Amino acid sequence: MDMSMPSAGLKSALFPDSGASDRARINALMEEVFQCAQGPGNALDDGISCLAQVLYLMYLARARKATSIAEVGFNIGYSSIAFLESSPQAKVTSFEINTEATVKSAKEFIDSRYPDRHQLVYGDSTQTVPAFQIPPSSEGFDLVFIDGGHDYPCAKADIANARRLAKPGATIVVDDLTPWFKWGIGPTTAWDEAVRDDVVTPLEYMSDSVAVSRVEGPAERAWAVGQYR
Ligand SMILES: C[S@@+](CC[C@H](N)C(=O)[O-])C[C@H]1O[C@@H](n2cnc3c(N)ncnc32)[C@H](O)[C@@H]1O
Repeated sequence: MDMSMPSAGLKSALFPDSGASDRARINALMEEVFQCAQGPGNALDDGISCLAQVLYLMYLARARKATSIAEVGFNIGYSSIAFLESSPQAKVTSFEINTEATVKSAKEFIDSRYPDRHQLVYGDSTQTVPAFQIPPSSEGFDLVFIDGGHDYPCAKADIANARRLAKPGATIVVDDLTPWFKWGIGPTTAWDEAVRDDVVTPLEYMSDSVAVSRVEGPAERAWAVGQYR
């Protein structure tokens, strides 16, 4: 987990980097939820987004005018904070398999900070995402973030199942396109197949906070942004 402040700005073609004040504010929020989730006796795993990615997700959601957002993989809520901070209108639905105290404490923090704007659906996303009912008043999610189970079958299922819940042309972000790490093989394979099969159109690849034409190692963090077709 890298909680350090990036010295350089994000270099994305999808939005302008909005600067230092956001970094300090979002970093403080991440520290707050971290302390809250850590609690006495709670143990954190290392599946946590870095500050640069949280800022990226916030700016992306804002630039795409996404207010109805779904994410697979909540953990301690960093990416939820990104989306909830993108706009006061943003609402987030998270799918999470882990029911331990760290997750529950983070959920309490999110609810106290963003009342009535966050829903957490517990269970295995390969079951809960297909079973999820979009309210009749909604056209579906306009942004989905795939960052749950990193094995290939799960990543593949999440990309396919989230499409049913998404508006046509919704934005999709798939994390961990880093096949040189063992946890990056599943998401990378699933993403490449989604592009090949015309499920998504790629918009941008990010590698260590810089937009690239194709992700290549070595990089610590890499993800893809696309649009559902
Ligand atoms: C990398 S973390 C998510 C980090 C979070 N999106 C963020 O950026 O702060 C991955 C999360 O996915 C959850 N997860 C793993 N397999 C899952 C599954 N099959 N269904 C739902 N959640 C799952 C894990 O419990 C873990 O909390």
